[in-house]
Amino acid sequence: MKIEIGRERPASYKELFPGMWDIFHHFEFAAGIPQVLFALSTLKENGKPNISYHAWSCFQGGNDSGFFAILAGISLSSHTYANIRRTGEFCVNFLPLSYTDALTATIAHNADDEDEFAAGGFSQEPAFLVQVPRIKESFLSLECKTRQVINLSEAGTTALVIGEVQHVALDEEYANDVKKRYGENGFMLLVHSPFNYQTCEFSPAMAATLKLQKET
Ligand SMILES: Cc1cc2nc3c(=O)[nH]c(=O)nc-3n(C[C@H](O)[C@H](O)[C@H](O)COP(=O)(O)O)c2cc1C
Repeated sequence: MKIEIGRERPASYKELFPGMWDIFHHFEFAAGIPQVLFALSTLKENGKPNISYHAWSCFQGGNDSGFFAILAGISLSSHTYANIRRTGEFCVNFLPLSYTDALTATIAHNADDEDEFAAGGFSQEPAFLVQVPRIKESFLSLECKTRQVINLSEAGTTALVIGEVQHVALDEEYANDVKKRYGENGFMLLVHSPFNYQTCEFSPAMAATLKLQKET
């Protein structure tokens, strides 16, 4: 038997916090699709570096047309969105699970005059081709220039940002050991509170890591 879920939000989906449904769609919790979790670095107008924890995304490219960071939803009210619109640049930084608390700290310290690298205890690393600093503690960083900004939801809440990757920096240890990149110190994913129909409750949001299983 399959549970069928339509576009109209079922009454059993109670808000976890006020305004939840202004930000999220119930399909996100119905589907519970894991998404790679990373940190976007940008520069604020006053020159302070900014970090934003980010999950809604995918990465794709073809032949010589370029490789793209497709950030499917960036909150229009975030510094990150304003910074990307103003500078046309951002870095995508992949960090291991041990940095989740430090990344959360950058959300708590979100004022205009805050250095969010300092707030999370991160170090700035000069990028090769963009002005935005990379996060030094990352095992992989993608330096990006904005190609398109699309108002996908038309709800005035988020935008889809497509950046073309200009340069990649990969930690040598991770480059030489595939298992490290896909093990407990490698890429992390967000499992965003999948909804349980039996209990009518959301599971806690969790960060996950990968386990290589089978050649395909
Ligand atoms: C696990 C996690 C994932 C997140 N993913 C996103 C995301 O995909 N898009 C987004 O706009 N905000 C996302 N956020 C919220 C931003 O990180 C948060 O609003 C942040 O304060 C924005 O920072 P800024 O104003 O410095 O850009 C996420 C937060 C957490 C904790």
